[in-house]
Amino acid sequence: MGIERMAVIGAGQMGSGIAQVAAQAGITVVLADASADLARRALERLGATLAKLVEKGKLGAAERDAVLGRIRPATRLEDCAGADLAIEAILENQAAKTELFRKLDALLPAHAILASNTSSISITALAAATRRPGQFVGMHFMNPPPVMQLVEIIRGLQTSDATYDAVVALAKRFGKTTVTSKDSPGFIVNRILIPLLNEACFALQEGLASPEDIDTAVKLGLNHPMGPLTLADFVGLDTCLYIAEVLHRELGDDKYRPAPLLRNYVAAGWLGRKTGRGFYAYP
Ligand code: 3HC
Repeated sequence: MGIERMAVIGAGQMGSGIAQVAAQAGITVVLADASADLARRALERLGATLAKLVEKGKLGAAERDAVLGRIRPATRLEDCAGADLAIEAILENQAAKTELFRKLDALLPAHAILASNTSSISITALAAATRRPGQFVGMHFMNPPPVMQLVEIIRGLQTSDATYDAVVALAKRFGKTTVTSKDSPGFIVNRILIPLLNEACFALQEGLASPEDIDTAVKLGLNHPMGPLTLADFVGLDTCLYIAEVLHRELGDDKYRPAPLLRNYVAAGWLGRKTGRGFYAYP
């Protein structure tokens, strides 16, 4: 089945990045968010990003206009009704996601695929809340979606081959490389990334080194584009903690226990870049 109309629900950093990637691939996108303000700001941000690409000569002005013209902001879920595929990129909250997928299931045409960009919640469990678990799949984009090459495809227990093939083809159309993961806590990327970031928190907590030295060690010593504490600030410390808790709880191994320092930062509201303060300050 060809996917020509998409709905992206959640106009945060991930949702708006996914909408950009899809629109650049020629797909019509409804970018829905309950907050009109967030949807409007996402479009403004997107305009600014595309303007920079035009300035750099990576995108023509006409193409920029065409991309922006393919994205329609919406605040009502009903505006997603015509989509061939809906991808959810709202907060990591299982109850909220389940509720959203129930509504999408009732709203979307019978052929439509439901996908979640969740970083850690079970695809099988989310799918079970719908009447189309065969047409349900995980499509996990990396932050920032327009720049990062990878899309992790997660097959729930009931995901059909046709659904899997359709989203792999879609990711390829986006110019991405895919990997396939079983439906297991953290999938591949976060199963490996979150223990690394958590270990950096333990190291900082123990006074092993300064945040700058921990980051420089990993950045230059291991050739990572960002040090782990910078990356944790970038991802959001609340998101890191949430995923660490999922790994700890679902895999039942104490090696995944979240660092108390990470818990404290989240409790203080120091969530990283988005709040202006995490391991570093972002004035
Ligand atoms: N659309 C298209 N291109 C864009 C863009 C956009 N929205 N935003 C940036 N770019 C381009 C820029 O034009 C630039 O291109 P150029 O090199 O040809 O000029 C290039 O991307 C790099 O952008 P910047 O120069 O602004 O920034 P940096 O070179 O500092 O790179 C970074 C920024 C790509 C974020 C890099 O630091 C990086 O790769 N960091 C690691 C990111 C990472 O690990 N992400 C995964 C997190 S884990 C995750 O997401 C999973 C979740 O579940 C937790």
